[in-house]
Amino acid sequence: MNSLSTVQDGSIGEVIDRCRRLVHPALRAVADQLHPQTGLMVRYSFGWCGADGIPHPDAREGTGKGVRQVLAILSAEAVGGCGRDAVPAAVAAELVHAFSLVHDDIMDDDEQRRHRPTVWKAYGIGPAVLAGDVLLTLAVETAALSPTDRSPQALRLLCGCLRALMHGQAEDMMFEERPWRGPGAVTAAEYRTMAMNKTGALLGFSAGLGALLAGGTPQHVKAFDAAGREMGLAFQIMDDVLGIRGEPVRTGKPVGSDLRRRKKSLPVLKALERGGSSARRLADLFAGQESLDDAQVAQATELIESAGGPALALGEGHAALARAEEALAPFSLRPRARRELAALAHYLIERVR
Ligand code: IPE
Ligand code: MG
Ligand code: MG
Repeated sequence: MNSLSTVQDGSIGEVIDRCRRLVHPALRAVADQLHPQTGLMVRYSFGWCGADGIPHPDAREGTGKGVRQVLAILSAEAVGGCGRDAVPAAVAAELVHAFSLVHDDIMDDDEQRRHRPTVWKAYGIGPAVLAGDVLLTLAVETAALSPTDRSPQALRLLCGCLRALMHGQAEDMMFEERPWRGPGAVTAAEYRTMAMNKTGALLGFSAGLGALLAGGTPQHVKAFDAAGREMGLAFQIMDDVLGIRGEPVRTGKPVGSDLRRRKKSLPVLKALERGGSSARRLADLFAGQESLDDAQVAQATELIESAGGPALALGEGHAALARAEEALAPFSLRPRARRELAALAHYLIERVR
């Protein structure tokens, strides 16, 4: 079997497009049922239109990567089912993802996502809270409308995922209040738990429910959930690395905003953990209470790089993908879907946006 962490596959773009074509009509149908005001914000959050509601001439502009829907579809195919079976899982996962981003951008005070103003920046905080609530409600409804024999378990998986996601988000925010050194400092192990919850739980849900809806056994569901969580950890690690060294023209978000807010992301924690003079200077820089200015962000970036923080963090990402592979190794899966899952895993940690 190809290694989930090392396979090279140029076809991931085609896989993403194929899954998007399968899921998009169902996602659109859900969004079309809404009140005009919330419907507008929901369509904007998915990148289907500008803030004024006018559809983009380029259908790709402002859309997400679609990782969660791809994972749901491939998991269904891997256990021998049809990608179409997993559409409710894919739709619910993309709705939860959109909900979490709309609310997260308010909490993080972020003004830009996917090259455009964030929902709260475009429509105001109150309306954006409502848009997030609507997206979450639609996700619950979608899971509930899974085939009747599976809908109770779909709902249980979704509720477990949401609880974990919110737990992780709370931890992530609490980390901001914790000291940079000494006994209360955040450890890389605590980061892993936080990221597995904040981001991993939703990828676990996508894979687990995708497998369930395609007729997977309870063992499949458990293993795909575990593999998805590890893939989510790798995804979040890459997100943190891109927050430090990503190119805004590709990521669609300003670089350095995590550092400005003094976020305890893994590249920073790894740089600090390593010790040495760069780590000491970094801890001094972060020790203040104020957010960092442009010159301090540039200095912090240099220190994190010279301490090898991003490379060490990416090493943890690759280890997570190896654990994802291990979780699925005991099962006899459709070879093509396994290859495409490997390509997806590779993309998660090699992506530039
Ligand atoms: C995204 O978290 C929101 C959740 C997963 C709940 P982050 O704050 O780490 O991600 P970005 O950088 O804004 O996308
Ligand atoms: Mg954020
Ligand atoms: Mg956040």
